[in-house]
Amino acid sequence: MSGTERRGIILAGGSGTRLYPITMGVSKQLLPIYDKPMIYYPLSVLMLTGIRDICIITTPQDQAQFQRTLGDGSQWGLSLTYVEQPSPDGLAQAYLLAEDFLDGAPSAMVLGDNIFFGHGLPEQLRIADEQAQGGTVFGYRVADPERYGVVAFGPDKRVTGIVEKPEVPPSPYAVTGLYFLDGSAPERARKVTPSDRGELEIVTLLESYLADGLLNVRQMGRGYAWLDTGTHASLLDAGNFVRTLSDRQGQQVGCPEEIAFENGWIDRAQLLDRAALFQKTNYGKYLRRLAD
Ligand code: TTP
Repeated sequence: MSGTERRGIILAGGSGTRLYPITMGVSKQLLPIYDKPMIYYPLSVLMLTGIRDICIITTPQDQAQFQRTLGDGSQWGLSLTYVEQPSPDGLAQAYLLAEDFLDGAPSAMVLGDNIFFGHGLPEQLRIADEQAQGGTVFGYRVADPERYGVVAFGPDKRVTGIVEKPEVPPSPYAVTGLYFLDGSAPERARKVTPSDRGELEIVTLLESYLADGLLNVRQMGRGYAWLDTGTHASLLDAGNFVRTLSDRQGQQVGCPEEIAFENGWIDRAQLLDRAALFQKTNYGKYLRRLAD
């Protein structure tokens, strides 16, 4: 894979305290969203972008379980690299931890607990991927923007700033956990100093791009689902959403085997191997049907 090809990062550390006591013994990103582990969904987003070289950042204690769940990625035609985040010091730290892995390449980083779904998503991802310089993030309208990084717009609708968890939100548009940044991200992340809550904030990193006129904010319209999975209720809701959709349509949401097969990264025999592994589940039957 060439040095300038975009590489992927899944940030799957964190403490998951809002899901206690469940996450006292297991990483949030390995919890089920209906029929598969949460991390399958952000992984699928990177795969839909066409990215095969992916770094998975986890807490030191959870890394072994992620490796057991995902392996080296070859079952999906991917190359997975595991990196530890010793303590949850903020989202921007990912670019420092992944600096060697990125080796100057542009990246797409997705938070391990973010689920995206919608018609036209591959097209959105393709457009963001094609922008070689600067960064692209996605604005999504939410009912409770004060919980997120929020986009501020000027009178001409141009983005003027991003505010982290504002008491009075400047707009209803939250920045989602999917960041396409160019190769300068690690260098810019080094200049980020810890916030009042002691974290290297992604918003500060994005501001560096914004100050240079290099940040593009694309809207994800009402046809998209961007789901939260960080609380007990939202975790259950996300699972129900996936179940409803996949039962109704007979199509999977966030199925890495399907994307790998469609992209020609695995062949029919490899797909059938996976189907055999999961033969007792509807997921396995689905893979079997894909192969036929
Ligand atoms: P958050 O939801 O902000 O935090 P958390 O997952 O630790 O959960 P809680 O608030 O319940 O304690 O994190 C968003 C995502 O980013 C999530 O997938 C975890 C990940 N994360 C890291 O991997 N490292 C970090 O330093 C931080 C802050 C988050």
